[in-house]
Amino acid sequence: MSSDAPPPLHERVLGLFEPTLLLVMAISHYIQVCIEAIKRGEILAPITQTAKLRDEAFARFWIAFTTSRPGPPPPTNEPTQIQPSSLIPPLLKTASGIVLDIGPGTGSQMPLLKSPAIRAIYGAEPCTGLHKALHSKAVAEGLGTKYHILPCSVAPSELLPALDATDTGVTDSHKANGDGIFDTIICVRVLCSVPELDRTMRELYALLRPGGKVLVMEHVVNPWRTAKGSMAARIAQGVYQILGWSFFIGDCCLDRDVEGALRGAADGDGGWESVAIERWMGWSALPHISGVLIKKSK
Ligand SMILES: C[S@@+](CC[C@H](N)C(=O)[O-])C[C@H]1O[C@@H](n2cnc3c(N)ncnc32)[C@H](O)[C@@H]1O
Repeated sequence: MSSDAPPPLHERVLGLFEPTLLLVMAISHYIQVCIEAIKRGEILAPITQTAKLRDEAFARFWIAFTTSRPGPPPPTNEPTQIQPSSLIPPLLKTASGIVLDIGPGTGSQMPLLKSPAIRAIYGAEPCTGLHKALHSKAVAEGLGTKYHILPCSVAPSELLPALDATDTGVTDSHKANGDGIFDTIICVRVLCSVPELDRTMRELYALLRPGGKVLVMEHVVNPWRTAKGSMAARIAQGVYQILGWSFFIGDCCLDRDVEGALRGAADGDGGWESVAIERWMGWSALPHISGVLIKKSK
């Protein structure tokens, strides 16, 4: 039995330090990658090849993090604090048709994407250092032929050419008639990293078929001005940003209004058919939203 009631004060204070572990882990991988480059004789690499080293360090960090992450706690009748990861399975089991999986990382969510209602999955993952793990996961989960890894950002200017390059014909009807492509777009802990989020979400909305849905589980800016939010947690988010959170953790931003970008994506088309978004853990530095946005069927 999980609850979203704020935990006792000491747990809330400890929770403010939760991102510290992630940040320390990410920084240590970055330092390690820089040291290795210098030892190879690429002394200036940390200055001249920063993007490459960041990408490599993030890949190593994310692989280490996802392999060390404990599984969900066993069910209990005692009231326990809601775990954001427990929100994902019920959400992803509704995925169907042609699916866009934004930033799949190492494919942690793949075991939840085995429904026969899913025809094909396109995973847009720009961090190429994660592709080997992603491919292995797809094969291990029996999704080797259904899962297509796209080496690109989800920005449609990169996404559409990468979809074309799969030679699956998935963009044919879009190119001929401007039709939507995806029945489901999955966003799990990724919109924090996507550049120009408002614009990208508007463009992705246009690639959604009528009646298509966006499934979301994201960490967001703390809603500190509302009764559910926390000013201390909002300040903590700002401090982590200043300490280099985005630099070391693959452009992730702790302080994004992800919900606003999602809701606004359909504004130019008369709004969504329905939006069902819930907010969780407003007391913490990693508050989450989860839910479904459905496009009008026309
Ligand atoms: C925090 S990880 C989450 C991975 C996965 N969704 C999960 O839940 O385990 C964020 C992922 O988004 C990817 N990413 C970052 N910027 C992106 C972009 N512009 N388009 C698509 N993916 C992106 C990162 O490379 C990384 O794999």
